[in-house]
Amino acid sequence: MSKRDSASLFILTGAGISAESGVETFRDKGGIWSRVRLEDVATPEGFARDPAAVHAFYNARRAGLAGVQPNPAHLALARLQRDHPGAVTIVTQNIDDLHERAGSRSVIHMHGELTKALCGACGDRSPFAGDLAISSTCAACATSGQVRPDVVWFGEMPYHMDVIEERLLAADLFLSIGTSGAVYPAAGFVAEARAAGIRTIELNLEPSEGTLLFDEARHGLASDLVPAFVEALLRGAR
Ligand code: APR
Ligand code: ZN
Repeated sequence: MSKRDSASLFILTGAGISAESGVETFRDKGGIWSRVRLEDVATPEGFARDPAAVHAFYNARRAGLAGVQPNPAHLALARLQRDHPGAVTIVTQNIDDLHERAGSRSVIHMHGELTKALCGACGDRSPFAGDLAISSTCAACATSGQVRPDVVWFGEMPYHMDVIEERLLAADLFLSIGTSGAVYPAAGFVAEARAAGIRTIELNLEPSEGTLLFDEARHGLASDLVPAFVEALLRGAR
């Protein structure tokens, strides 16, 4: 088996991979941050100021998951994980569960997950469906008033950064899909990969903020680009 066949892949995804499933992106025209102030709903200060408004924001997005399905891009990555002989690490900035519902495994959610709740009192993280409220109580310590969406807000440390760094630097290929490259630390992964001599490819609707750092950038819809990329890689071309 050639080195190319067992190449280890590090794949970063952003909101653009879920756009064609009907999940809103943040910075496209009409995106979430053009309608809602991120300071109000995606910061610890915003949650302290008005927890009910923050719960309402994430409750609506959590409820929205029932109405969306994985698209061919999610399905292609699940196929890649199944059929590629080398390691395939998927790190997503997304808090939706579309990678998992497409069949991907061990997805690393660096910004947390809509389908989990976090207790501010005991740190318990548990799967959660339905609506969270100020009165919600923690499944583990029964404290109420301290349960929040298990989502990483601005100013907080993204999850799993140790394993992310390890997998990134061990990769033969860094593939970035559907992200604007506007938010760190994810936006810095391409520079780290490049400095480590790792091949970098961007698949995005339009050039991201870091597009010039990529060895190769292909622009178009994720549901076209990702299946084509996976097909070519599994056929041994790239
Ligand atoms: N196919 C491919 N790319 C697409 C598509 C599509 N159908 N639709 C949109 N895109 C691209 C856009 O061109 C844009 O570059 O996806 C990117 C989405 O960028 P953002 O909305 O900024 O989303 P993302 O990069 O994931 O944001 C990162 O910012 O607000 C925080 O925590 C939030 O995880 C999020 C982080
Ligand atoms: Zn608790």
